[in-house]
Amino acid sequence: MFEVLPQLAPDPILGLSAAYREDTNSAKIDLGVGVYKDEQGNTPIMTSVAKAQQILLERETTKTYITPQGHQGYIDGMLELLLGKNSKVLMADRVAAVQAPGGCGALRILSELLARCGDNMKVWVSDPTWANHIPLIGSAGLTIETYPYFDKKSEGINFDAMMDTLKQTGKGDIVLLHGCCHNPTGADLTNAQWDEVLKLAQEKGFLPFIDVAYLGFGDGLEEDAYGIRLLAENLPEVIIAASCSKNFGLYRERTGLAAIITETSATKKIAQGQIQSVARGIYSMPPSWGGALVDIILADNSLKTEWMSEVNEMRNRMQSLRTMLVEKLAENGANRDFSFLNTQKGMFSFLCISPEQVREVRSKHSVYFVDSSRVNIAGINQQNVDALAKALVSVL
Ligand code: LMR
Repeated sequence: MFEVLPQLAPDPILGLSAAYREDTNSAKIDLGVGVYKDEQGNTPIMTSVAKAQQILLERETTKTYITPQGHQGYIDGMLELLLGKNSKVLMADRVAAVQAPGGCGALRILSELLARCGDNMKVWVSDPTWANHIPLIGSAGLTIETYPYFDKKSEGINFDAMMDTLKQTGKGDIVLLHGCCHNPTGADLTNAQWDEVLKLAQEKGFLPFIDVAYLGFGDGLEEDAYGIRLLAENLPEVIIAASCSKNFGLYRERTGLAAIITETSATKKIAQGQIQSVARGIYSMPPSWGGALVDIILADNSLKTEWMSEVNEMRNRMQSLRTMLVEKLAENGANRDFSFLNTQKGMFSFLCISPEQVREVRSKHSVYFVDSSRVNIAGINQQNVDALAKALVSVL
């Protein structure tokens, strides 16, 4: 039966990890898949998470199913993190939410829910966007359109072009926005630009679909929530897909959240039932472990403080790696100024070099990153930065 199916090309991001593993060059450098790495190149279990695991081992007394929506403590803790302590929409009981299997699971079930809302639903995504957005959202049957976002020539956001395109949207359209730390470019909207997006959403009536996978990696946990909170508090409806993969380091535990802010609390009840039925039709209920850990951390003041300082540490380290790379590129005679990397945020940056240059640096120097020129900043360290800068300069 399956011979009728075509052989697929490797995944543009996950396929890089396989190629990296197979490379026998001992000086190889992995700046591919977006996982945080420490100075030794390890992706550690965060200390707050390790402590929560000990607590959970003692506390967990059964492996029976968890409820269809997931751990309520996890959902409440995450919503407070995203929407703020004094969120009006939370107080008005206007937020339906479920624990989801990772950010991907959240994106997919929200897309399936949107597909239930009408025929020919259209989602506008940034150009470029995370490589998996299009298959995840498109496979739910939604039509994808793009809006201009990043301009490689000016090495920044083309906000005017983005807004001009979004002016063509209307009620019933959905606009996917990255809450912070845009993947793949690292170029984020300023608060003033978020204000403009809010005005346009109010005028045109489009539905913002916010994907937030890197809260705390940009400017800080509170600062990074600016756009999410602004839209959530000032629009009748917003949907949010959140991930705990990066800021809790729970990659393999598949821990995400799908939230739907509705106009009224009566609609919230409908949305809650619908999203649970979408999940039931795909995977029934989420895995327990990751959500239970986040619940323990967010409910315990001292663990939460420890987690927040670990997030701050990761953010500060990535910022210093950016500075180090920019300096090393200049020291090694780069014929271009790469200081734009210092203004970008989070785990990723676009180097703004061509796919041919990316492939050349991969084949000649075993430096692995996505063809779009997206690099995982966290893969840089004191040991590899010199070789990395030299390799990049050699292909400029
Ligand atoms: C990435 O963008 O590299 C990560 O979010 C991992 C993935 O699933 O693509």
